[in-house]
Amino acid sequence: MTQKVTITIDGKTTELPVLAATEGKNVVDVRGLIAEGIFTYDPGFLSTASCDSKITYIDGDAGILMYRGYPIEQLADNSNHLEVAYLLLNGELPTPTEYESFVASIKGHQDIDQNFQGIFNGFTQGAHPMSMIGAAISGLASLYHEETDIDNAQDRMTTAHRLIAKIPTLAAMAYKHGRGEAFIAPDDSLSYAENFLNMCFGTAGEAPNVSPTIAAAMDKIFILHADHEQNASTSTVRMAGSTDCNPYAAIAAGVSALWGPSHGGANEAVLDMLNEIGDESRVEEFVNKAKDKNDPFKLMGFGHRVYKNFDPRATVMQDSCHAVLAEQGVEDEPLLKVAQKLEKIAREDSYFIERKLYPNIDFYSGITLKAVGIPTELFTVIFTLGRMPGWITHWNEMLSEPYKIARPRQLYLGESKRDFKNLAER
Ligand code: SDX
Repeated sequence: MTQKVTITIDGKTTELPVLAATEGKNVVDVRGLIAEGIFTYDPGFLSTASCDSKITYIDGDAGILMYRGYPIEQLADNSNHLEVAYLLLNGELPTPTEYESFVASIKGHQDIDQNFQGIFNGFTQGAHPMSMIGAAISGLASLYHEETDIDNAQDRMTTAHRLIAKIPTLAAMAYKHGRGEAFIAPDDSLSYAENFLNMCFGTAGEAPNVSPTIAAAMDKIFILHADHEQNASTSTVRMAGSTDCNPYAAIAAGVSALWGPSHGGANEAVLDMLNEIGDESRVEEFVNKAKDKNDPFKLMGFGHRVYKNFDPRATVMQDSCHAVLAEQGVEDEPLLKVAQKLEKIAREDSYFIERKLYPNIDFYSGITLKAVGIPTELFTVIFTLGRMPGWITHWNEMLSEPYKIARPRQLYLGESKRDFKNLAER
């Protein structure tokens, strides 16, 4: 029995169906309102479901995150990023044969055309890697535009494999270009995370020498970032993709949205904030700045639109962080001490408690990435690398069903009709 809600405006009553979720909140289907000449109003989409999806489920009050029904904690402990990418894309964990074939396909796509590598030469060495990544992903559209039929399921899956395969190579190229060092080609003998780390930190012509602990931490970071339902960058990919644009262009739009410090750029902003605080003795000062309405400063890595409890990824990240710091022998890392004091104070302060502001994934990922020697400006690139499977899965899910171009309406508060006045009359 479908539940219904009624809405009465100017004496006219409209019935709206309630659509039932398999997990979490049901939704009021407001599509019938346009026929009644009524819009809904929800800037920032705090209470608006923009689509239906089967990919990822978040319960922000309970601190739950599941990819295709599997809890993030179980995937982080037992899986790896490519297996999670397969799960997101296909909806099921792969059999050994399916996994082997998927990994082989990814390895087969990870090279970047020699001529295309010249795209990085257009950037100064000081350019932010996110600007290079955005350009490079958008540029991939030039290589595959003619041959990609977005209405063909196999073409969409090939696009997904290409993007998942090439993002580590492009990210490493952005890093190497920034340091004026020679690119290192992908190495099929290495795992996905080992290959990325080797292309970043290896030396051309030398055998790979990647720490298994660091590669494991990096792969876990990729898993934790792989998807997060309708976050700002994924919604951007869906919005751009709804115009039937080239998928590489739609993903490039997502990269742009992710870069913002309120979103994926927060991990870099967390490190900048911890460096600015500098010492445990200054933590109180910055917590007070964050509480001051007249001060635009916010505690980077705290708060979340959906999580009003601990971000489950932050918990996993925190454990990973301690393991890496222990291996690196930097357990007394000053920034970790500042972060831990910041977290303690924020968790006891009524301002943060009342607003349910908890540490999110970016709070600990930044410290972990710093501990494995990743330069701060590469943090959001790593978020991009991790999120790639999620973005392209949402794009594919949208195109696999009938969809409409995304075109929100507005509440108009501007001028009513008025006639033009010639210059002489003004
Ligand atoms: C990610 O959406 C996703 O899923 C994103 C993500 C993903 O995986 O894709 O999880 C990744 O983007 C994580 C979030 C990373 N961003 C940061 O860490 C930046 C710092 N956080 C804030 O900018 C903020 O918390 C947001 C942007 C994350 C959420 O903003 P909301 O939901 O719009 O919340 P809000 O601004 O309405 O805040 C509610 C209150 C306000 O105070 P009042 O007006 O009620 O008095 O909380 C305050 C805010 O001022 N507040 C903060 C704060 N975050 C919110 N105050 C101080 N420091 C903060 N960090």
